[in-house]
Amino acid sequence: MNASYPSSSVYQPLTHLDLLKMKQRKEKFACLTAYDASFAALIDAVGIEVILVGDSLGMVVQGHATTLPVKLENMIYHTRCVTRASRHALVIADLPFMTYSTPELAAKSAAKLIQEGGAQLVKFEGARLDIVEFLVKQGIAVCGHLGLLPQFIHQIGAYKVYGKELDSADQLINDALALQRVGVSLLLLECVPAVLAKHISEIVDIPVIGIGAGVDCDGQVLVVYDMLGISTGKRPRFSKNFLSETNSIESALENYYNAVKKGDFPTPAHSF
Ligand code: KIV
Repeated sequence: MNASYPSSSVYQPLTHLDLLKMKQRKEKFACLTAYDASFAALIDAVGIEVILVGDSLGMVVQGHATTLPVKLENMIYHTRCVTRASRHALVIADLPFMTYSTPELAAKSAAKLIQEGGAQLVKFEGARLDIVEFLVKQGIAVCGHLGLLPQFIHQIGAYKVYGKELDSADQLINDALALQRVGVSLLLLECVPAVLAKHISEIVDIPVIGIGAGVDCDGQVLVVYDMLGISTGKRPRFSKNFLSETNSIESALENYYNAVKKGDFPTPAHSF
């Protein structure tokens, strides 16, 4: 393993505009979470287009039961670790719980993820149009996150599929359109019925990344430890252990990438 990573400024990473062109060409893209330089370098080398420094690190790295204890300084640290090693992938970083409760606080938190962490986009949960508008005015690129919102776990009570009933499906469609209108560059849908995620992906112009949202989203994301089968908890239904079919992490990442590109993952067995 090469311990000295090149400065990311030497390389031209992908942007959300590249993902937009891929959507327009109907070419799928892949995304994985990463939290450190070694995984980021491997993921990047395979050609996976997007790396998400997710606040899932609270569960899979820090060992908490939820993402709620994650602090902004944890996100900055892990984002910096990832951006030091990635050359080509677009890097998105999550704003953790309670770091975006007002537009001003969101802008301050996002600025740290960008200036200190090196992220290109920030992601946060929910249809907070006021926050998106404020960030976009400051030149910050935003990825929306709808469907299952893990930071709301104490309100929703359980990790479950969102948008199964007519009301919640309508709400999700309206929220997606509203987020697009106020300027999000990308949208992530988590645990949404496949047919609904397909509809949303078709009616919005921006690229849609799915997790547990069926095969028809423009891109797919998984938590890297889940798809390598090394998470401590139970693997979610929408994930797949790509390491069990091969004997190297590189091949598992490549197989995931190829399966997403060909539309072979997720299958109906990984969808709702
Ligand atoms: O924190 C995270 O890893 C996420 C998932 C949806 C991939 O947001």
